[in-house]
Amino acid sequence: MSGMEVFQDSNERHRLTVQNRLLKQYERPVLSRLISGRTGLRVLDVGCNDGSKTAEWFSCGNVERVVGLEYHEELAAEARRCHGNGKFVFMPCDVESEDFPERLCRAMEQWKIEAFDLLYLSFVLMHLENPALLLKKLRRFLAPGGQIIVVEANDSASKLEPDPHCLLKGFLDILSCDPYGGDRQCGKTVPELLKKSGYGNISVESMTVDAREGEVRKKHDIFESFFSYLPQDLAVLRQKEADDSRLRDSRKWIESNYGELRKLVLSERAVISMGISIVTASGE
Ligand SMILES: C[S@@+](CC[C@H](N)C(=O)[O-])C[C@H]1O[C@@H](n2cnc3c(N)ncnc32)[C@H](O)[C@@H]1O
Repeated sequence: MSGMEVFQDSNERHRLTVQNRLLKQYERPVLSRLISGRTGLRVLDVGCNDGSKTAEWFSCGNVERVVGLEYHEELAAEARRCHGNGKFVFMPCDVESEDFPERLCRAMEQWKIEAFDLLYLSFVLMHLENPALLLKKLRRFLAPGGQIIVVEANDSASKLEPDPHCLLKGFLDILSCDPYGGDRQCGKTVPELLKKSGYGNISVESMTVDAREGEVRKKHDIFESFFSYLPQDLAVLRQKEADDSRLRDSRKWIESNYGELRKLVLSERAVISMGISIVTASGE
């Protein structure tokens, strides 16, 4: 499995469903504020996967047109099949390819969309070679008064109590080297990336997803969203272990500690925060 193929995997798509259920309570108030009282809005969702989050987030009446861009043709086709209609369109597209702006321009002409009132990027910048370049290119597609909303992981803000043997740190250290995990500190750099790319009125809306004592269902969703995929990634990478002692050590660490970490996270009295940054900005 290559770095990009992971996004078509059924486990990954199930994980995204749980992650989106978890994030709804954090993203909804921000989105509502940006779109309430406005009508005829045009939205661009970059890295939309199978379009299920796109359809759920932007089905409200304030939004008139939604364009989803997705690297994988199969995922874009599935998004089109399940959610495509006069309002939602989905296009396979590598947003890091050189001709991306021209391709998007041509598609917008065809769909009679002049510009977007909202650019939405959720867990995609962390997987790009050059996120600042994409942000710069996207700015020209914003309508006057338009806004961008970026959601990204920031593991440096993650905390777990109690955690007497620092298992969370051990886990996140391994995750930071997972070739499928992307840049796990991306959320921390988003405000600076937006500033460098010419955006203004940058606002950090939320920094962590939290579960307190007793919030057991939420802790299950947090574990599924942010912890479940590392053992799967390491299993996929197993054939490379012969040449990579760090991979071997990581798998051994996971075999010895993953169960205990799971127990700690899911325990009634655990207090956990996972770093997820939600940042908004305007095009000016
Ligand atoms: C972690 S998933 C997030 C999906 C969705 N935005 C969400 O939050 O549930 C990242 C998505 O971005 C897509 N992606 C990554 N690099 C891309 C690129 N260069 N061009 C277009 N899509 C890309 C992946 O294929 C994947 O579907």
